[in-house]
Amino acid sequence: MDTSRSLEHVLSMQGGEDDISYAKNSYGPAAALASSKPMLTSAINSIKLTKGCSPIKIADLGCAVGDNTFDTVDTVIEVLRQKLTVVDGESDQPEPELEVFFCDLPSNDFNTLFRSLQEKVNGSSKKYFAAGVPGSFYGRLFPKGHLHVVVTMSALQWLSQIPEKVMEKGSKTWNKGRAWIQGAEGEVVEAYAEQSDKDLVQFLKCRKEEIVEGGVLFMLMGGRSSGSDLDSGLKHLFTTLMDQAWQDLVDEGLIEEDKRDGFNIPVYPRSTEEIANAIDRCGGFKIEEMKVLKIADPMNAKQQMKDPESYGLAMANLVQAGLKPMVEAYLGPDLTRKLFKQYAVRAAANKELLKENSSYYMIAVSAIRV
Ligand SMILES: C[S@@+](CC[C@H](N)C(=O)[O-])C[C@H]1O[C@@H](n2cnc3c(N)ncnc32)[C@H](O)[C@@H]1O
Repeated sequence: MDTSRSLEHVLSMQGGEDDISYAKNSYGPAAALASSKPMLTSAINSIKLTKGCSPIKIADLGCAVGDNTFDTVDTVIEVLRQKLTVVDGESDQPEPELEVFFCDLPSNDFNTLFRSLQEKVNGSSKKYFAAGVPGSFYGRLFPKGHLHVVVTMSALQWLSQIPEKVMEKGSKTWNKGRAWIQGAEGEVVEAYAEQSDKDLVQFLKCRKEEIVEGGVLFMLMGGRSSGSDLDSGLKHLFTTLMDQAWQDLVDEGLIEEDKRDGFNIPVYPRSTEEIANAIDRCGGFKIEEMKVLKIADPMNAKQQMKDPESYGLAMANLVQAGLKPMVEAYLGPDLTRKLFKQYAVRAAANKELLKENSSYYMIAVSAIRV
């Protein structure tokens, strides 16, 4: 992975519909969606629409592909339709038309998304016009004042890049022996926090341009429960097993230590304070509600019932759904296969994990463009 390049060229969820695809491994984000649904519903209800406003434009940023993509949009459409019936109920105005933009990085599996969209949009009463928009949400994606509702679900924890400082070999910010920040040196965590702040402000500045006054921005992102504690719950995926699997490649002489140390996962779980601070500095948005949601890991609960091997495999599938394209760009296909095979072996052997009931934190924020 060329570290000077932004991640948008290599980051994507695993496409298709096989065992390691995001579509088959998105039950964590699905649980997060379900938990944030009441908040999303009330956020959409708080939208201020002028009478006769049509089409109403909705964007889902970081939509990926699979059931979650459509569940999110279905919720938004359903609440909007109810609201519009109430607003325009007795009038002879025609029902406003709805336009949905599915946005993700160009490497997203838009083909699978478009194929399922065909059935979804035509086969339901919740008909809407749809379009795909490829590009990074850390840049502008729409013209000024174009959107009424923007949602982004389980996506903003992905940074735009690994902080440059973390790629300086031999420095205090070189993340030796680790693929992620939990348990890392303070300097590494600090570098991630700086990158995360820069990214979030950049994201907000773009949306501030694109969303009409009175429009809604709803963000659900990986987070942590308090400002001081870095524990996001994601350690189960990104720390011990991941580091052991990389070390196995080093021990077998398949890669050098530096190669292992140069790989970092570009995910940062924010605190509510960090999010509020970025929104405040950007201006243009009023926070309606912000909540930390504790999500019980549904995969863990299911897999504990099974044997260690199937648990190991399920964990490896889950982590590949999010990371395989990025790891493959860094290691190539053969070593990537080997790495995740080791990951499955390490997960199957981890008695603690098998017993533990894991959970993770998400932060939901609804804001109005003022
Ligand atoms: C974990 S998936 C969540 C997908 C879906 N919203 C859900 O709730 O299941 C995160 C998505 O965010 C996308 N993403 C990450 N960084 C992005 C960026 N800078 N711009 C646009 N999309 C991004 C990824 O490609 C991925 O599809």
